[in-house]
Amino acid sequence: MSKYNTTVLVGAQWGDEGKGKIADILAENADMIVRAQGGNNAGHTIIANGKTFKLHLVPSGILYPNCDCIIGMGTVIDPKALTEEIKALVKLGLNLSRLKIDLRAHVILPYHIEQDILSETALNNLKIGTTKKGIGPAYMDKTKRSGIRMCDIIDPLTFKQKLEQTWEYKNKYLTQMYDGTKLDFTKTLNEYREYAQFLKPYAIDTTILLYKTIVSGKSVIFEGAQGTLLDLDVGTYPFVTSSHPVAGGACVGSGIGPTFINSVLGIAKAYTTRVGAGPFITELDDDLGRHIQEVGQEIGTTTGRSRRCGWLDAVILRFAARVNGLTSLAINKLDTLTNIPVLKIATSYNFKNQVIDDFVADVNQLQHCTPIYRDFEGWTQDIRQCKSFKELPKNAKLYLQAIQELTQCPISMVGVGPSREQCFYM
Ligand code: GDP
Ligand code: IMO
Ligand code: MG
Repeated sequence: MSKYNTTVLVGAQWGDEGKGKIADILAENADMIVRAQGGNNAGHTIIANGKTFKLHLVPSGILYPNCDCIIGMGTVIDPKALTEEIKALVKLGLNLSRLKIDLRAHVILPYHIEQDILSETALNNLKIGTTKKGIGPAYMDKTKRSGIRMCDIIDPLTFKQKLEQTWEYKNKYLTQMYDGTKLDFTKTLNEYREYAQFLKPYAIDTTILLYKTIVSGKSVIFEGAQGTLLDLDVGTYPFVTSSHPVAGGACVGSGIGPTFINSVLGIAKAYTTRVGAGPFITELDDDLGRHIQEVGQEIGTTTGRSRRCGWLDAVILRFAARVNGLTSLAINKLDTLTNIPVLKIATSYNFKNQVIDDFVADVNQLQHCTPIYRDFEGWTQDIRQCKSFKELPKNAKLYLQAIQELTQCPISMVGVGPSREQCFYM
């Protein structure tokens, strides 16, 4: 543990674990919230004072007047989408002057979105099921070292030069690699120059501000996006996103060293969901899966797609605890499991008659694993108003205790509904 007041939030599954809700709850007592990776592929829902907020790139701390918000250099920024998000929040009466965007963050331009759409279409039945927000192509340009950054677009001349350097290649790529149409240079330049000028007052070197905030002993929360199994390296490759949602990604993407991190809170649902393609071995492709989908309102916040639903997978949570160095877990959506007579948790996998306790590296092997389940009796009592562990019915307590035992990770928070108030500490 470090001496600093810093917590990294990470999704412990395939995203949509309720990170936004937890970040919002913790933001009440935080001085700063930081997004360090991903882009507007994320969709974080907060229900506060009866109002629903869906945030994509702006950190969840924005709802509190005294919380500073940083969009760090490891993110990819769609200037159009971010401009629209900021304007919508200003319209709601929020003070956005507390938002800062790092000058080093790469930007998503229209050709990235086109490339994302065309490449997904071309993949036919091998689709990743991306959000089509241009995330992967923008990170590809970043690693190819031909990307355009915030510091480039806010200077109109540099932006023009950088865009000119890449334009012919991009149009060739869209039209010759795929059957896409050419994009208009002048239209793109003029339109994005406007977004850039709108975003310019927010753009600074956020690493200095973040460092000063941390060393002064203030409280900083890193709001993860996506989830551990969507991580480019440790996730179910190739069915992953193009950034690093794991805890280590918070350091790389915000520009601070690991010794500044005090705790890592893994966020999980009491069951499992996934949106997009890829293996999911506890998936319930049946009436029960549809029941969870319906009761849990499992609809993607960004794309509106139905989320695939299945039993909780403790192998995944153990893996998340290990690769993120989780200090505790937050378990959301326990309420969704009410009225299911028998609940199951995968404790290990069967692969060719061998018991496997650790999550597997190869998705081809994963596809041939079958879950080994432990059964739990359900509960019928409505738990949505419970304010403490001791108010929960006995079987809900046993279910949570089993998660702790199977993951060897303590649960520190429990969610029993979508609003701020429907969450308690253990
Ligand atoms: P994020 O991407 O991790 O921030 O999660 P999303 O916002 O995409 O998806 C989580 C969904 O579950 C949202 O609709 C939340 O309002 C909702 N939610 C969060 N926690 C709970 C909970 O404890 N119970 C219920 N019923 N809904 C919850
Ligand atoms: P939050 O932060 C759930 C998934 C997509 C797809 C894969 C790659 O709300 O938890 P991408 O557009 O990133 O190239 O898509 O990753 N995905 C998410 N799934 N929640 C998210 O974010 C996601 N962001 C990306 O569905 O399978
Ligand atoms: Mg989400």
